[in-house]
Amino acid sequence: MDLSPASKAYSNHDVLVIGGGAAGLSLALKIAQFCKVTVLSKSSLQQGSTYYAQGGIAAVLDEKDSDTAHVEDTLKAGAGLCHQDVVQYAVSRGPECINWLMQQGVEFTRLQQPLKTGTNQLETGTGFSGFHLTQEGGHSHRRVIHAADATGKAIFRCLSQKVLENPNITVQVNTVAIDLITSDKLGEKTKRCVGAYVLDESSGHISTYKARFVVLATGGASKAYLYTSNPDGASGDGIAMAWRAGCRTANMEFNQFHPTCLYHPKAKTFLISEALRGEGGILRLPDGTRFMPAYDERAELAPRDIVARAIDAEMKRLGCDCVYLDITHKEPEFIRSHFPSIYKKCLKYGIDICTEQIPVVPAAHYSCGGIMVDKDGQTDLKNLYAIGETSFTGLHGANRMASNSLLECFVFAFSAGESIRSKLEATEFISEIPQWDESQVTDSDEDVVISHNWDEIRRLMWDYVGIVRTNKRLQRAANRVRLLRKEIHEYYSNYRVSTNLLELRNLALVAELIIKSANSRKESRGLHYTLDYPGLLDKADDTILVPDNYSDD
Ligand code: FAD
Ligand code: SIN
Repeated sequence: MDLSPASKAYSNHDVLVIGGGAAGLSLALKIAQFCKVTVLSKSSLQQGSTYYAQGGIAAVLDEKDSDTAHVEDTLKAGAGLCHQDVVQYAVSRGPECINWLMQQGVEFTRLQQPLKTGTNQLETGTGFSGFHLTQEGGHSHRRVIHAADATGKAIFRCLSQKVLENPNITVQVNTVAIDLITSDKLGEKTKRCVGAYVLDESSGHISTYKARFVVLATGGASKAYLYTSNPDGASGDGIAMAWRAGCRTANMEFNQFHPTCLYHPKAKTFLISEALRGEGGILRLPDGTRFMPAYDERAELAPRDIVARAIDAEMKRLGCDCVYLDITHKEPEFIRSHFPSIYKKCLKYGIDICTEQIPVVPAAHYSCGGIMVDKDGQTDLKNLYAIGETSFTGLHGANRMASNSLLECFVFAFSAGESIRSKLEATEFISEIPQWDESQVTDSDEDVVISHNWDEIRRLMWDYVGIVRTNKRLQRAANRVRLLRKEIHEYYSNYRVSTNLLELRNLALVAELIIKSANSRKESRGLHYTLDYPGLLDKADDTILVPDNYSDD
């Protein structure tokens, strides 16, 4: 086990996995049977979104359910923009992923007592019998397998332990990838990814990592918004690095807002799982009125874009700070056993969810767009893969269905692992890479520029590129981000880099990509809703951005 930060000027890695969440850890475990793997994490491994995942993983595990139904639900939630072949592929590999997780030791919640066939139970003989499946928005069937309301922790604990025990895997924490290195700049004719420049946070030293393959598993970019369910590191680093290395992005405008995050001045980013609505939770206005049935026949279990927009509309109509989620009609024992973490967390803030309604607001939650990849997770750049939330596979369309994200992490980690394995033998390290040049920079004298710009971007994204957009708001956002990016570029060129500066640089670029994508979609579809184009175009197209078309990036 090696948990040490980077220390050498040069190092060689068969497979360099940037990111230690569900996607990165599972790929590392899969490929470590065949080669040496290094996993980088810019802070502790717990600091990715994976650790915080609550509801569970969507997969067809009940014999009354079917692949067809899971595919149809995903396509419907995705508002006509999912790639059907990719959806079919991901759904078909779901049970294999759950099996594998169980083999790694993940303990999913079991049924407390046998239920009748076809209600909430798996038949014996499927291999998954006896596990509790919960329901979430957009799903026509109970198909979300989970570990109470802390599925991410259960997955993380098992996978991180297996990774740390594996002699073929080295984990380096507090180690931040800055940029990818491509061979065209080093005189090779074919452009391929040959490594990355990496900052060791504790020493401030920047090392050159040579790699035969690089995998971006860096998570999403919801930190671009002022209010988010995501941990601090969700600054879109992978998307920004891939873009700078020449890779296309797709559908960046579809940033998902989760309808229900706890509204409390001290509760930074705490999610109230959609599973709470799946188990009967009702959304109410401050006067107690239930409002979702007026918006959608699926009421509280409509897909997230619809529920978040309805809450936003009601909050604006009434001028209130939040709405309420009410599960008090359920037995306290049921609530405490199904939602132990949510129960405890709310109690800490003085809310007993067995007897009181939970104040909730929507918050940025998930990046449906990302780095364009194929079914193997292969990006536009040879030997560079992207998996998990940083990637765009085509699975989620204009709105991700609940619990399809973890599914995507595992499915594409598996396929990327298989693809890398098939190419390992034929792929050589590049011989020479120049070291990072720090001779022209000095220590920063005004770090306030960094914190100020962070705040400004996150606020303008929330105000102008949020749940409801207009041309004018997007234009305002575009103008401001352009200026901020100029300032950040100047700062980056003159001062020694730090994690905060690197994240800010990436976040500003990703914000610009979100705005560009939003500006080019002349319709309202899924998560992208604009008052200037409230209707749907006949033809659904992805918004693809190509780096070569933007010279200033
Ligand atoms: P992450 O788990 O976010 O990991 C990213 C990793 O990359 C981290 O280790 C980070 O340190 C590292 N990293 C980033 N940039 C760099 C860099 N420059 N250098 C080095 N390392 C870097 N989805 C579901 O399907 N079901 C759920 O129940 C569910 N619940 C959720 C609840 C919450 C509160 C949140 C926030 C998300 C939830 N999601 C859920 C979404 C899902 O958890 C994430 O999409 C998924 O975990 C992302 O996994 P990942 O491996 O792609 O990235
Ligand atoms: C939740 O538990 O509500 C989050 C599920 C998800 O993001 O898929």
